[in-house]
Amino acid sequence: MFEKEIARRRTFAIISHPDAGKTTLTEKLLLFGGAIQVAGAVKSNKIKKHATSDFMEIERQRGISVATSVMSFEYQDTLINLLDTPGHKDFAEDTYRTLTAVDSVILVIDSVNGVEEQTRRLVEVCRMRDTPVIVFVNKMDRDGKLPFDLLDEIEKELKLTLHPMTWPINSGKEFKGVYDLHQKSLLLFTAGQKSQEDNSIPIEDLADSSLDRHIGARDAKQLREDVELLDGVYGELDRQDYRAGGIAPVFFGSAVNNFGVRELLETFITIAPVPLGRATDKRFVKPEEEKFTGFIFKIHANLDPRHRDRIAFLRVCSGRFARNTYYKHTRLEKDVRFSNPYSFLAREKDIIEEAYPGDVVGLFDTGNFKIGDTLTQGELLQFTGIPTFSPEIFKELVNKDPMKTKQLEKGISQLTDEGVAQLFTQHGGNRKVIGCVGELQFEVIQYRLLQEYGASCAFMPLSFYKACWITGDKKKVEDFAKYKPANIMTDKDGNLVYLAQSEWFLNTERQNNPDIEFHFTSEFKTSQSGA
Ligand code: G4P
Repeated sequence: MFEKEIARRRTFAIISHPDAGKTTLTEKLLLFGGAIQVAGAVKSNKIKKHATSDFMEIERQRGISVATSVMSFEYQDTLINLLDTPGHKDFAEDTYRTLTAVDSVILVIDSVNGVEEQTRRLVEVCRMRDTPVIVFVNKMDRDGKLPFDLLDEIEKELKLTLHPMTWPINSGKEFKGVYDLHQKSLLLFTAGQKSQEDNSIPIEDLADSSLDRHIGARDAKQLREDVELLDGVYGELDRQDYRAGGIAPVFFGSAVNNFGVRELLETFITIAPVPLGRATDKRFVKPEEEKFTGFIFKIHANLDPRHRDRIAFLRVCSGRFARNTYYKHTRLEKDVRFSNPYSFLAREKDIIEEAYPGDVVGLFDTGNFKIGDTLTQGELLQFTGIPTFSPEIFKELVNKDPMKTKQLEKGISQLTDEGVAQLFTQHGGNRKVIGCVGELQFEVIQYRLLQEYGASCAFMPLSFYKACWITGDKKKVEDFAKYKPANIMTDKDGNLVYLAQSEWFLNTERQNNPDIEFHFTSEFKTSQSGA
């Protein structure tokens, strides 16, 4: 049936700390796929990471970036869906959610800076889901850390087990290229490489004197020593282990010079997992099942106030999605159909007739969807594994115009459905607390509430440290909620949440309430959620 379609798809994201080279690498990959013709096409859509004060500019660029949120292209008969993740740290939630819709990731590390703060968090999210990771150590044309030290740092700090696929010969001005440990070939570095041809030189045996001719006796000696060491430690790559999220293959290169990108891409299409199944609250859904299922992992608002429609991003999980067909929106238990679903295939950004597992479809939405919503051909199930994480900044929402209370309530409800921020309502009361990852979102919310809903609001800072979803013995949880009215809220799904003032308070509550569990994400085993 459509097994062939599944087998030829790869859906992934590139993740990195800002500035490591994600945009540059994305662009080079697109050039390989023929999806763009000139360098710079992606870059111009990039959210500028330094523009923290200018949120309108960021939102504007976010608007533009809808088009590049998903980039689909073909390379050697493989259909690659590359899901973009915002680099700006205030949009980290967006990135976490996008990671629920991919089957693997490429992690870009700057060879000069090594492991950086956002890399750590992103990899943590990948580890939670055992997402397979391929590492690309970028900027080898700069004087970076020594490769063995870098591997050590990555392994220790990110708790990844690495497996080098290529090995660099020096770095910075002395950078001569890489030796491909698996293809057994030498790839010589030339700056500003435009060609996409395979220029590798086969060198089966490193003892071969041709190696000295290519890179000089000194570097040849070093490479032989390095490779001997590597062979002893690593051996063959175990693909199963990589796909289970246990081992991360590593490539060295320079994205801006288009160096090492081809090797990365070719290995990626060979070893990266095909679209995988997903867990639901009822059962595991396999991609090859005949009936269509999918879930919404991202919602993008149209910033033009005259067009209030939004775009919901659907990841197809099983079966075949078809245009103009009724599907079950399982949360609302309502049938919906889409006459203009669109694809992100770069050359034909257009209405599509059908889509297969691994694909992402853009659906016009008038407010029916929220993140995590599931569509099926009738079966009432809900995809799991799309958790909400505890926000980091909390503020109370203050209504500045009582005449517009309704608009404010509607606006804040819709914006939080989109995932712009999280809304907590006082348990048994009406106080509203907004939780975000970055300050920027508060400005975005304030602006959009006024522009789109005519409601004006202010935010009062609150000094909370984390939101913890609480579960456990029903009576104990109820008693706890009664005893801590100022700290107990409900999330939008009615789950009880404890807002802790500090780590100390949280630990104290944990000790005092051994029958209650405190979770940093909204998703926990349903068997535990006795509350
Ligand atoms: P990001 O999306 O991860 O934030 O990073 P981006 O690709 O924008 O790259 C950040 C900077 O690093 C850019 O320079 C880019 O040109 C540079 N860069 C990317 N790959 C390499 C590489 O292999 N070697 C070297 N030396 N630099 C690299 P910029 O000055 O911020 O931007 P631009 O003006 O050059 O575009």
